[in-house]
Amino acid sequence: MLPGPLSRKIHHARAVLHARASDRFDRRHGTDTVAEARIGDLTVASGDAGEGRMYVGSPPAVLEHCMPALVADPATTTFIDMGSGKGRALMLAAVHGFPRAIGVEFAEELHAIALRNRDAFDRITGLGERIEPCLGDAGAFAFPPEPLMLFFNNPFRAPVLRRVLDGLQRSLDEHPRPAVLLYQSMKDAPPESGTDENLAMLDEAPFLTPVPIRIASPAGRFMLAPFALRAHVAAAE
Ligand SMILES: C[S@@+](CC[C@H](N)C(=O)[O-])C[C@H]1O[C@@H](n2cnc3c(N)ncnc32)[C@H](O)[C@@H]1O
Repeated sequence: MLPGPLSRKIHHARAVLHARASDRFDRRHGTDTVAEARIGDLTVASGDAGEGRMYVGSPPAVLEHCMPALVADPATTTFIDMGSGKGRALMLAAVHGFPRAIGVEFAEELHAIALRNRDAFDRITGLGERIEPCLGDAGAFAFPPEPLMLFFNNPFRAPVLRRVLDGLQRSLDEHPRPAVLLYQSMKDAPPESGTDENLAMLDEAPFLTPVPIRIASPAGRFMLAPFALRAHVAAAE
């Protein structure tokens, strides 16, 4: 256990590194993914605004380290970000080799930014056609019949997650195929955030099995230390 002041310094240094990486991502790609946004300031097309969490982009390091740990062959898998905001995760997935990265976002302004980001990203990388931002409620999303990686950056509360999992289970019953789910939250999330309820729901879903996330590099483990990252798989019948 490190003494308090040292541990705070390390925490601060890591937060600075994450912030720099996010800024660098935008500078490199001509995108706009950093500024946070509150749901109350946005226009929600459909879905329950009261159950949604504000826009905060996932730090690039989270997916850069977790995608290779969870998906052996991205070329045969479709990546889906449930609550995709400005689309940063979709762009990271495209760079990682997913041929299709779908984002579901219910706030019109964020969806519009995601479309602009996709175009800017395409001009730099030529990978824009892999990215499909969709405007709508994640709880009503119809999953495509391919193998899936689902990403949740703590986007909404339990009632919406329940609808997502019910839809996923129906889709997997209809078209059995592999699916891996990655749930990102913070280790210090307060109880009133409802995060624990979501994690329990994932653990208790009868069609899902928890799996470890093995982060290979010490640098990756250092950068991801403040995050509660949980993975589950649904195996094909
Ligand atoms: C914490 S942000 C994550 C953004 C993005 N996934 C990322 O990691 O960069 C959560 C996002 O979920 C969206 N959201 C919340 N409830 C939603 C719902 N029911 N349907 C679709 N999007 C939703 C919010 O508008 C917000 O953009």
